[in-house]
Amino acid sequence: MSFSKKIAIVTGSSQGIGKAIAVLLSQNGATVILNGRNQEKLNTVEEELKANNSDVCSFCGDVSDEKVAENLILFTLQKFGKIDILVNNVGVSMRGDFADLAPNVFKKVFTTNVMGKIFPTKFAIPSLRKTKGSIIFISSLAGIRGLPTLSAYSASKMALKSFADSIRTEEVSHKLHVGLIYVAITEIEENKTTIGENGQEVILNTRANKKVQTTKQVAEAVLQNLKTRKNISILSGLGIVNYYMQKFFPRLVDKIILANLAKFKSEGK
Ligand SMILES: NC(=O)c1ccc[n+]([C@@H]2O[C@H](COP(=O)([O-])OP(=O)(O)OC[C@H]3O[C@@H](n4cnc5c(N)ncnc54)[C@H](OP(=O)(O)O)[C@@H]3O)[C@@H](O)[C@H]2O)c1
Repeated sequence: MSFSKKIAIVTGSSQGIGKAIAVLLSQNGATVILNGRNQEKLNTVEEELKANNSDVCSFCGDVSDEKVAENLILFTLQKFGKIDILVNNVGVSMRGDFADLAPNVFKKVFTTNVMGKIFPTKFAIPSLRKTKGSIIFISSLAGIRGLPTLSAYSASKMALKSFADSIRTEEVSHKLHVGLIYVAITEIEENKTTIGENGQEVILNTRANKKVQTTKQVAEAVLQNLKTRKNISILSGLGIVNYYMQKFFPRLVDKIILANLAKFKSEGK
């Protein structure tokens, strides 16, 4: 499947996984609308892509704000007349045991990870119905089973599963494709932040020496999901084992996680 003449919005695409998805979509012929909250970062990615003859433009704004999300969709429709693909990628993680979390941590995580995906979807649906297009949700292995020190993050990613299932069923007569991507631990940019126990931004340690997926591998899985219009894609061998073990042997998964609790907690610090 070629992506030429396809109009694709990728939210949160000024760095990391979203950028890799935007790059691969444009290399495969799509016109891409980049998004992020920092215009300078967006300009850099836009210039990088244009240097490779990609058809790309950017929309700066926080998609967890309803009005901004609506404006992103209006901007795209005014410029290109339609939307074929919406990749809901924005997301933020957090660290800390639930009992120690400031209450605003949950609010911050849900605002970005849930509302930041619901609002663009809401406003894009009328156009996506006409194009029989695709909505992609970038989830995580933490969306398969709630993980220790990641309660808000896991719950927000789990919410995407039920949201995706609901709209997939509601939109079946419009032939909309709704793909949920369970991403495993992936390489990160040097400046990537998470939310600490008190709601403060914390810069994550790099994963340079760890065995993690590349952002390009994640992008390739997203394009494969778009081509095959599958309901879910689970990344990495560990992810697939995790998914089926949780389904058929949930108590064994509990035991494995409990045996590794210290590791989860030390990584969460
Ligand atoms: N990295 C991993 O190991 C991993 C694993 C599983 C799942 N995931 C998921 O993959 C997605 C991307 O992760 P990543 O590691 O690539 O993240 P990242 O490096 O932190 O990039 C996030 C991107 O989203 C933008 N952004 C954040 N909040 C936004 C908002 N409210 N409105 C508009 N743009 C926003 C950021 O730019 P600005 O800050 O400039 O706005 C940036 O471009 C997330 O959904 C994450 O949960 C990641």
